Amino acid sequence: MEKKAYIRQPIVAVLGHVDHGKTTLLDYIRHSTVAAREAGAITQHIGATEVPIEVISQVCGNLLNNKKFTIPGLLFIDTPGHHAFTTLRARGGALADIAILVVDIKDGIMPQSVETLKILRRFRTPFIVAANKIDDIPGWQTHQGSFTQRLKSQGKKTQDIFEKHLYDIIGDLFTHGFKTDRYDRVTDFKKNVAIIPISAKTGEGIPELLMIVIGLAQRFLEKRLSIERGPAEGTVLEVKEERGLGATIDVIIYNGIIQSGDDIIVGGKQQPVVTRVRALLKPKPLDEIRDPSEKFDNIDELGAAAGVKIAAPGLEHVFAGATLRVADDNVEETLGRLREDLKVDIKLADEGVILKGDAIGSLEGLASELGDIPIRKAEVGDVSHRDVVEAQTNAHPLHRVLLGFNVKISPEILEEAHTGGVKVITDKIVYHIVQEYQEWRNTKKRELEEEQREDIIHPGMALFLPNCTFRVSKPAVIGVRILAGEIRTGEKLIRDDGKRVGEIKSIQSEKETLSRAIQGQEVAIAIENITVGRHIKPEQILFVDLPEKMARKLLNHDLTSDERDVLDKLVKIKRQENKLWGL
Ligand code: GTP
Ligand code: MG
Repeated sequence: MEKKAYIRQPIVAVLGHVDHGKTTLLDYIRHSTVAAREAGAITQHIGATEVPIEVISQVCGNLLNNKKFTIPGLLFIDTPGHHAFTTLRARGGALADIAILVVDIKDGIMPQSVETLKILRRFRTPFIVAANKIDDIPGWQTHQGSFTQRLKSQGKKTQDIFEKHLYDIIGDLFTHGFKTDRYDRVTDFKKNVAIIPISAKTGEGIPELLMIVIGLAQRFLEKRLSIERGPAEGTVLEVKEERGLGATIDVIIYNGIIQSGDDIIVGGKQQPVVTRVRALLKPKPLDEIRDPSEKFDNIDELGAAAGVKIAAPGLEHVFAGATLRVADDNVEETLGRLREDLKVDIKLADEGVILKGDAIGSLEGLASELGDIPIRKAEVGDVSHRDVVEAQTNAHPLHRVLLGFNVKISPEILEEAHTGGVKVITDKIVYHIVQEYQEWRNTKKRELEEEQREDIIHPGMALFLPNCTFRVSKPAVIGVRILAGEIRTGEKLIRDDGKRVGEIKSIQSEKETLSRAIQGQEVAIAIENITVGRHIKPEQILFVDLPEKMARKLLNHDLTSDERDVLDKLVKIKRQENKLWGL
């Protein structure tokens, strides 16, 4: 194949919070460009809409001042609000060359807008903000002219409401680390993100939006968009079962050329799928569909950038987000390169949480949001029995967790996780997963600490008060003051010379039986198997006897300074006999 370089259309991802108007914006662009058909038909691809430069020139009219462009047009990709499309990768970067973040001007920046911003930052994807639904501002009227003129023709109150909403958006974006301004006030598009007020309903502002996207792409992306006529590279958007075709994949081709009959290699759930293209399919225009089984046109060849549906054997094993490569003459070499593409760029640890995701990009997004949390495994695919087992083998309870982004889990496996003590969190929004995990982690941490404190024997030191022998033996009952720490029934006592005294049978204070007494309290304690005068004497100091293992644990534990002091004293006593005690 002849390897001549050419400039392809930039892939423009339309992103944003649910219902903010992404699809309506694309519908408007499609519609208005269909009206401008003489200049060049617009093509509806799989998951993508291609708008040729001539059509854009016509829509933008004199806004473009007859400027000449080398890029052939724009390839728009609509995304459902819940799916961060930019997580799809193309050779280590985002698949989108440029993005439009659609924001409902009245709602402002919402959780999924924030999620989108994080991804855009991570991949350094240039973007602009479409402040949509300006027609929805009370009193707004559509006028002609430049934006400043149009704004001036609105009533005073309407202008104020508009300014307030815009100001809120600029402020929110600033707190997320982006300097933005209304597009007509931006002088350096590399430093400031432009906000274009639009209405996807009336079309107001859309010519300006297109003009800025084209301008940015031309100025800043020309190098990235210059590609070769070699074997195609693409990213799988979706794996779909089609009647009469079997499993098919919807792919965005971002580089090179693909032909019917080409050998292709695509990332698979277990291993790369090597297969041959049976059909390259493009959707027919809606008005041509008579029979749903004839939804597609068979084509022989397709060049980047474009969307296409591919039918080939074995595609049911492919996952969304995987890379596709047309095999060179050397299949092994292509396979090697594909394996490189499919490497998940996440640092793994022996111990840590398990991540499952619908695409490599989403796994990486989730991992980057988790910060310092160790990750044991990050894998594309639905949650399996093996994942649960692996999560269970984590030594630390805080790591027995499965986090799934846009993946399925069967009721049986969920049940298995539940009984096995594995926490499962799945969601279609990364932000929700991270938040829920953090909440769970905090609660769990507290529970564990409490549990630990429960079975800990605390250090304690008590003074046998003078004139407080209430009973000499069987059991001995004496009055003590707790000098530091605490004592509990059931605990054993020793003297300061290391001699064992016996077990505390009960603790009483003013006729009430207590289970423990703390520093400062004066209580009566009953001790079995000793005789006052022989085993203990008034004014002696008694310590809670700690098993060596417990002392070791306590030495690494958060103790109050008094408790630590008592523990140190006890260690000293014990080391009179055993020099290495507690080490
Ligand atoms: P998801 O795909 O679900 O994430 O939503 P979306 O962002 O694609 O939103 P969509 O285009 O489906 O629009 C959501 C609603 O907002 C629809 O009822 C639209 O008619 C309405 N809408 C979109 N743009 C505008 C606009 O500019 N003005 C007004 N008034 N309504 C709009
Ligand atoms: Mg939509």
